Amino acid sequence: MRRPLLAGNWKMHYGVSEGVALVEALSADLTDLTDRDVLVCPPFTLLGSLAPLLDGTAVALGAQNMHYETKGAFTGEIAPNMLKELGCSYVILGHSERRQYFGETDELINRKAHAALANGLKPIVCVGEVKAERDSGQAESVVVGQLRGSLAGLSAEQLRSVVIAYEPVWAIGTGDTATPADAQAIHARIRAELAALSDQATADAIIIQYGGSVKPDNVDELMAQPDIDGALVGGASLKAADFIRIVRFK
Ligand code: 13P
Repeated sequence: MRRPLLAGNWKMHYGVSEGVALVEALSADLTDLTDRDVLVCPPFTLLGSLAPLLDGTAVALGAQNMHYETKGAFTGEIAPNMLKELGCSYVILGHSERRQYFGETDELINRKAHAALANGLKPIVCVGEVKAERDSGQAESVVVGQLRGSLAGLSAEQLRSVVIAYEPVWAIGTGDTATPADAQAIHARIRAELAALSDQATADAIIIQYGGSVKPDNVDELMAQPDIDGALVGGASLKAADFIRIVRFK
């Protein structure tokens, strides 16, 4: 029923030549996909160079952040309509690195989510608890609070264009993945909350990705969980062979 979405978040890695080489390798290999979607989210500076290379391929293009206004005196910021014009179809919002290092709040992420949808971009809204929150049994309540804040005011129809990425912060870049069962438990809780925010049919249609040290050797068991509908991949998305294997999860 849900079409898996495998996405690479390149974070602040690669210039144009490395990025071109990576997407050429991906698009040359991933020509036979019929049952899953693939996305790469490079740095802003590569979007204009990569968009024409991905046009007509199975690999979609997304950005890692955006501002919520469409223009104005916001030095250093990028507007949603600018991303759309370049060929982006998705934008990652509220990644834990933006929450942690740039002070992004649920309220700000909510403004961005509304703006992304208004400009025809599908937001990938990131949620996830830090280690101390998990250790003190607060993982679910933290994630539910982030969901309610980040998705406030979105209609059921709008929610169908939203992707949720559950990324436990302690699992990002550490090699320390959540067990498939632990991830599934949070994903099921997220889907229940999405149903409470809209209705069950809407919640059942929403893609919920897992992120945090997804690798070729753990993707299959993560994707086997009923409420894990995709992956948001950092480090392993920077190597063509690893990301291709993740996309080709069994
Ligand atoms: P890693 O796959 O490197 O742990 O990063 C996950 C992530 O933050 C994706 O957004």
